[in-house]
Amino acid sequence: MPQFVGALDQGTTSTRFVVFDKDGSIVTFHQMELEQHYPQPGWVEHDPYEIIDTARTCIEHAVNKLKILGHKASDITSIGITNQRETVVTWDRLTGQPLHPAIVWSDSRTTETVKALAATDPKGVDCLRHLCGLPLTTYFSAVKLRWLLDNVPIVQQAQQQQRLQFGTVDTWLIYNLTGGQKNNVLVTDVTNASRTMLMDIHTLQWSEEAKHFFKFDQIHMPKIVSSSQIYGLVDEGSLEGVPIAGCLGDQQAALVGQKCFNVGDAKNTYGTGCFMLFNTGSAPVISKNGLLTTVAYQFGDHPPAYALEGSVAVAGSSINWLRDNLGVIEDALDLNRLASTVDSSAGVYFVTAFAGLFAPYWRDDARGTICGMTQFTRLEHICRATLEAVCYQSRAILEAMNKESGKPLRSLKVDGGMSNSDLCMQIQADVLGIHVDRPQMREMTALGSAIAAGFATGFWKSFDELALINTEGRMIFDSKITGERREAMYNGWNEAVKRSYGWATA
Ligand code: G3P
Repeated sequence: MPQFVGALDQGTTSTRFVVFDKDGSIVTFHQMELEQHYPQPGWVEHDPYEIIDTARTCIEHAVNKLKILGHKASDITSIGITNQRETVVTWDRLTGQPLHPAIVWSDSRTTETVKALAATDPKGVDCLRHLCGLPLTTYFSAVKLRWLLDNVPIVQQAQQQQRLQFGTVDTWLIYNLTGGQKNNVLVTDVTNASRTMLMDIHTLQWSEEAKHFFKFDQIHMPKIVSSSQIYGLVDEGSLEGVPIAGCLGDQQAALVGQKCFNVGDAKNTYGTGCFMLFNTGSAPVISKNGLLTTVAYQFGDHPPAYALEGSVAVAGSSINWLRDNLGVIEDALDLNRLASTVDSSAGVYFVTAFAGLFAPYWRDDARGTICGMTQFTRLEHICRATLEAVCYQSRAILEAMNKESGKPLRSLKVDGGMSNSDLCMQIQADVLGIHVDRPQMREMTALGSAIAAGFATGFWKSFDELALINTEGRMIFDSKITGERREAMYNGWNEAVKRSYGWATA
């Protein structure tokens, strides 16, 4: 009888449920878009009910598809969760009802909160880096929670009455899937907790010092757990009784899916944003080059693995912007088709800093900037410059990683939506000047969380066993341009980046 593992992948713009077999191949899946709410410039919100509703619907549809293929729901032995990280959900512990829309990781409403917090410590934005591995920016959860406490009366009231439950998306999903108040499973895995600024990266416990810094008291925090263990059972629906046994933030999940288990292994995932993670082994490395220190994974009682991360805020979302806000393309395929009709961007650079610039620049005041246009410039050049933008930012991150490790990376594993574009991956190889290594099956985020669940339930037993899965059909992209051209293009990008600073004052 075949056996499967399910993965619930709740990303920024979509939710999907993917069913994997023992070879790591996809048996079936179901995906739904998640609505983005932009109530003010720089604000990005999700409806917590829609997050859980799409999760449940995707599970039911995928299970139905599995049945059509002749299998049973009970062939799914466990499920793993993977999720957009940093996004904050607050709810009332007594009712289980959300108190506010989820504030999404890319939301930059907290610029003033960050300034005010940084001013309270001589080390400024680096004041908690030694503790949590992260700089103070609009990106991380604690800053968003501080904003909610400062600005939303219903959240303040819940705090005063000790009813305020804080969670990231993993906590919200697991809480609801396991029956909400009925069973009260309130957990977050170490990788998600490592994105809040509230976890001590060395002890993997909530830090009293960090809580004190943000002036958080009387807030209920979820329990920090490993990425691979049984957290609870699905409470209703077709998968009732199935253990939820794996949980990883989506970028850490992709690192696991790409099997980057050795020190020095790195991957780059091109999703809504783009995130490069580099496995640094069993000790956290505090970055001096604008990178983030994060927990990569922790399987059960085993010691954790750490990673350095370079985050790019805008990748696939720039394609959505061209489609939805400007209406100049139909979809990603259209952008790719237009971009491939020209062999360069003809000097155009598009700094897609819609939410400021993340790593390694960390400029909250940057904004989207297109420069270098002439009367010759056409939409095709702007489309190409859109693809190039994420490739240049990945280069800036790779340089920071090389500085940090002292050992230049020779090959980069890639996955995620934009990695489907051969053109984009060729540009990436050209801009980096190293091998870009793309697997045939690119649902690495989902696979990573399935691996975590499969490890906890004995579905897979060892890293050796995993070495055999998902090995076929890899494609390597190598640079086709000269080193001189590569440097000239990158210098142009750096000039464009300088021009993107200083637009946003709040
Ligand atoms: O840190 C944000 C990240 O987790 C979002 O990932 O795939 O939705 O771009 P993605």
